[in-house]
Amino acid sequence: MQIIVSDDLYLSTFTADDIPGLLDCLNRPEIIDNLLTLPFPYTRNDAETFLAYNAQLFEKHSLHLNYAIRMAKNNLMIGSIGLQLYNEMHRKHRAKVDYYLLPQYQGKGIMTRCLNTFTLWATHTFKPARISAMIFIHNIASEKVALKCGYHLEATLLKYYIKNGKYIDTKLYTIINE
Ligand SMILES: CC(C)(COP(=O)(O)OP(=O)(O)OC[C@H]1O[C@@H](n2cnc3c(N)ncnc32)[C@H](O)[C@@H]1OP(=O)(O)O)[C@@H](O)C(=O)NCCC(=O)NCCS
Repeated sequence: MQIIVSDDLYLSTFTADDIPGLLDCLNRPEIIDNLLTLPFPYTRNDAETFLAYNAQLFEKHSLHLNYAIRMAKNNLMIGSIGLQLYNEMHRKHRAKVDYYLLPQYQGKGIMTRCLNTFTLWATHTFKPARISAMIFIHNIASEKVALKCGYHLEATLLKYYIKNGKYIDTKLYTIINE
């Protein structure tokens, strides 16, 4: 399945062909240091586990939740955007979004376009009451993306995560669906 973002960008499901791309993205400290719970170093085995997990999610939801961001001109994976769903009484009530982009593609407005499209898609598809992004306090670029896509700051959660042995204050950005 594909989600079209713009003439030059689309989202589509991960395949085994994306393993080198996943290894490239997720072994970069500048990406991984901003993400919540991923192993470092990120191995081929981790990528295969991720693909198997995606297949399980597909069986459960009949739709993929994690997508590669690709350039239309060559189908190259340049990043990722994905959703986690949290059920309350069998209803898909809450969702959390995660995203990352290779450094050479950053600062060009790409994630703003992807998050806008993906938020709309997730809202129409799953109708969650709320979608959130958990953004580490130092991650100004991600905060700007969330704000530009209509998310608002709900709370700053002190010492909410521990990464590399350090507490990290985290901003909770949310979009509420009326
Ligand atoms: C966060 C991330 C996804 C943003 O993607 P992107 O495509 O570069 O974002 P955009 O170009 O759409 O917008 C980024 C905004 O942040 C700004 N920005 C970038 N780095 C910045 C910095 N260090 N300080 C302040 N602003 C910064 C840009 O100027 C832009 O704002 P503007 O449109 O007002 O000029 C990307 O930097 C990334 O993948 N980072 C590593 C992983 C990560 O942090 N994921 C998010 C976890 S919550």
